[in-house]
Amino acid sequence: MKDKRIIIFDTTLRDGEQCPGASMNLREKLEVARQLARLKVDVIEAGFPVISDGDFEAVHTIAKEIKGPVICGLARCVTKDIDAAGAALKPAGKKGRIHVFLATSKIHREFKLGKAQDEIIRLAVEGVKRAKSYVQDVEFSPEDGSRTEPEFLVQVCKAVVAAGATTVNIPDTVGWAVPEQYGALIQRLHDEVPEFRSGKAIISVHCHNDLGLAVANSLAAVRAGARQVECTLNGIGERAGNAALEEISMAIKTRSDFFGGVTCGVNTREILKSSRLVSRMSGLVVQRSKAIVGENAFAHSSGIHQDGILKKRETYEIMDPKEVGWGGTELPLTKHSGRAAVASRLKHLGFKMNEADVQAIFARFKEIGDKKKFVYDDDLAALVEGQITEV
Ligand code: KIV
Ligand code: ZN
Repeated sequence: MKDKRIIIFDTTLRDGEQCPGASMNLREKLEVARQLARLKVDVIEAGFPVISDGDFEAVHTIAKEIKGPVICGLARCVTKDIDAAGAALKPAGKKGRIHVFLATSKIHREFKLGKAQDEIIRLAVEGVKRAKSYVQDVEFSPEDGSRTEPEFLVQVCKAVVAAGATTVNIPDTVGWAVPEQYGALIQRLHDEVPEFRSGKAIISVHCHNDLGLAVANSLAAVRAGARQVECTLNGIGERAGNAALEEISMAIKTRSDFFGGVTCGVNTREILKSSRLVSRMSGLVVQRSKAIVGENAFAHSSGIHQDGILKKRETYEIMDPKEVGWGGTELPLTKHSGRAAVASRLKHLGFKMNEADVQAIFARFKEIGDKKKFVYDDDLAALVEGQITEV
């Protein structure tokens, strides 16, 4: 695979916003879009213009105001959707992309659409051609792609690429795939569609997290030749969400060796700020133990780990917290902490103590630790100053 640059397609403002309770108004969407541009994502999927006047307005305004990333709008393979997307994206000019989708799996064909395979191909091709009359940059998604018969999926990919799609996204719409299988599917498409091999069109992936495998599936696909990953900040999205942008970009950066030397253009120092903004704007709280952006992501609690960190940070950290926007490593004091961390904190607080004093304070520290979740600086100071006489 020649091209080593992974395109980061952020869909926080479209699939992310589909997370129940996460709807954002125009001002909120615009603020997130500005931050996504600072984060240097390659593509912003700004919304689904046909679904409401508000979403149309949001895509239109983002297309007008945000410079840098490609701005994308979603549409079904339906004339009124594609026309709405084309109109909303007009201000983006050459930086506009229409993303058309149509379900291809047997279960969706039979129960949702009531259409045969040849009809699906015809509608997909028509949709791509109509989108192409508005923009050069057209993406097609066979919805529920991971559960579609692979032979049929190959046919769909060939047909939409011949109709002008420059990106074909293979969604794991219901989060059903597992990494080895999904990677093998992407590899098969890569091998059987000549335009994917030549680089004339690229394979994208869009994984949902119903089994907690969205990031693992996306990365397996990257190893198999996918060159665009669709993801959202904090992993928000329909149901259990989408692959988390912060995890995808840091996995690529930290383990590029394993992924054949691929890179992405994300300005990782903006990750934490972006995550917090999305949390505020969407009203969705980030869990403490969330990778990269959770409060505990770089906080070490056990005495053994704290001691290792104090000797050399890399003993227990594979990423530098500053690289993703944190101030640094955290060593919160809890009953799990060891003497080294307590001594280091006392020194940091300006207390000059000999070994015996530290040992005495440490014994009292453990008593306090057994009674509360954290031992704070004020607790330590009170211990040293003899204000706590009984625990
Ligand atoms: O999950 C999905 O299939 C989608 C498509 C619209 C790409 O979000
Ligand atoms: Zn989705």
